[in-house]
Amino acid sequence: MRVTAIVNGDKKQVDGVWEGESLLYVLRERMGLPGSKNACEQGECGSCSVYLDSELVCACLVAAGQAEGSEVRTVEGLAGDQGLDPVQQAFVEAGAVQCGFCTPGLVVAAHDLLQRVDRPDDLEIREALAGNVCRCTGYEKILDAVRLAAERKAG
Ligand code: FES
Ligand code: FES
Repeated sequence: MRVTAIVNGDKKQVDGVWEGESLLYVLRERMGLPGSKNACEQGECGSCSVYLDSELVCACLVAAGQAEGSEVRTVEGLAGDQGLDPVQQAFVEAGAVQCGFCTPGLVVAAHDLLQRVDRPDDLEIREALAGNVCRCTGYEKILDAVRLAAERKAG
C-alpha cells in the first residue's frame, strides 16, 4: 500500500506499507522522524502524540492508511526558522526533561492546549496532559514548563 501525506509541511510518500502498520511506525521507521516515541503502543502513555489534521492523536492507534491525504505534524515540525517552539523552549528552561522519553508527546499535547486555551489554569493543564505518562520528573517541572509557555504566549 502507498501512503501519501503532508508531514511537517512536506509531501511524503512511502510505498510497501502493510495495512496493519501504525502511523507511528511509518513516521519513525519509514519517514525518518523518530521524535514521536514508541512506549506502550496501546494508546496509554501519550509518548507518540502528533497532530493529524490539527487533531491531537496517539499515532500508535492510527492506522497508517488513515493518514492518507492528511496533514501530520510531529514534534519535529513544531520548531520553526526562529528556533524552538516556545513550548519546547519552556521545557528546556524549566528542567522538565529527564530521560526525555515522554517529552515529545508532552510537548505536542501542551502545544495543543495552548492553541486552544490562552491562559489555562492548573486544572486545565493537568486535564490536557492526563494522557501523557512520565516516569521520571514527578510532573511538577512539566507543569512549570507549561505555565511558563502559557505566560509567555499570553504576553
Ligand atoms: S506509544 Fe502511543 S500512547 Fe503509548
Ligand atoms: S522524563 Fe523520563 S519519562 Fe518523562
